[in-house]
Amino acid sequence: MKITVLGAAGGIGQALALLLKTQMPANSELALYDIAPVTPGVAVDLSHIPTAVNVVGFSGEDARPALKGADIVLISAGVARKPGMDRSDLFNINAGIIRNLIGQVAEICPKACVGVITNPVNTTVAIAAEVLKKAGVYDKNKLFGVTTLDIIRSSTFVAALKGKQPQDVIVPVIGGHSGVTILPLLSQIPGISFTAEEVESLTKRIQNAGTEVVEAKAGGGSATLSMAQAAARFALSLVRAMQGEKNVVECAYVEGDGKYARFFAQPLVLGKDGIESIKDIGSLSAFEQKSLEGMLDVLHKDIELGEKFVQG
Ligand SMILES: NC(=O)c1ccc[n+]([C@@H]2O[C@H](COP(=O)([O-])OP(=O)(O)OC[C@H]3O[C@@H](n4cnc5c(N)ncnc54)[C@H](O)[C@@H]3O)[C@@H](O)[C@H]2O)c1
Repeated sequence: MKITVLGAAGGIGQALALLLKTQMPANSELALYDIAPVTPGVAVDLSHIPTAVNVVGFSGEDARPALKGADIVLISAGVARKPGMDRSDLFNINAGIIRNLIGQVAEICPKACVGVITNPVNTTVAIAAEVLKKAGVYDKNKLFGVTTLDIIRSSTFVAALKGKQPQDVIVPVIGGHSGVTILPLLSQIPGISFTAEEVESLTKRIQNAGTEVVEAKAGGGSATLSMAQAAARFALSLVRAMQGEKNVVECAYVEGDGKYARFFAQPLVLGKDGIESIKDIGSLSAFEQKSLEGMLDVLHKDIELGEKFVQG
């Protein structure tokens, strides 16, 4: 199994590389790439950790040496938010970075599963899909917007409110990955119920949790460590599923049946070739139904922005 991280010298990338170096199965390969010249050094640093995961690092303009033979590519290359910025403010810079990197993925490892972390995820995944499509190698079962951070935040906040262990609380989060498009299905947590006020304030907190970190870091960036943990969880679930484990379920932002939007985050069963099946979102509370209907305009516009960026 080979995982390549693009943007590997960044706040997310370095922490993610550390988690993968310590948690990937034995005899795996981990390739790190970033435009930053420090990247080969990050790989040397990690290589001193005694696990049977071989780490190599590449820098410069060319991601292709890192992509050779990759089974999974995780992309966190790009700029992150500063206070006062919305995820959509990142579009101008990150759209071009994703187009360029996905072009190299299409050329070198078109069969790899790709997890896009770079924001705005609602749009960068649409860009990635269009670039892969143009290259004639798009497989919608292998392209994921990584929304796992919304999942782990939901577990943490619900557990804290209800006095539970966070690892025991599983909350599906559907929609997209910004503001109102993030919709935690609090009505679907077994054994936990909420008042209407709790639902409203928890939903808001989960939707704004990224901004909570951006403001607390006061100009020093956005979530990196929790995001790295989230991306590692997603990637390692994918690894287990690709190696044959059954019933591996994670939520991610993918091209599904298009019932709500071309791309939509929902629970997926992962398998050897990426998405094995897409699970139904189940029955929603009245609050969730209204929130779902309320997000769709925003989501459609975010997706269209990405499609148009590539189609011209
Ligand atoms: N999906 C999520 O839930 C989520 C959560 C937090 C952050 N993010 C996003 O992840 C991205 C990275 O965040 P970060 O905090 O690690 O930022 P960072 O600035 O610390 O790191 C980004 C890295 O990307 C590299 N880079 C820039 N252009 C590149 C290119 N063309 N090729 C290769 N590498 C390139 C930079 O050199 C840097 O090392 C941001 O877009 C951020 O908004 C997503």
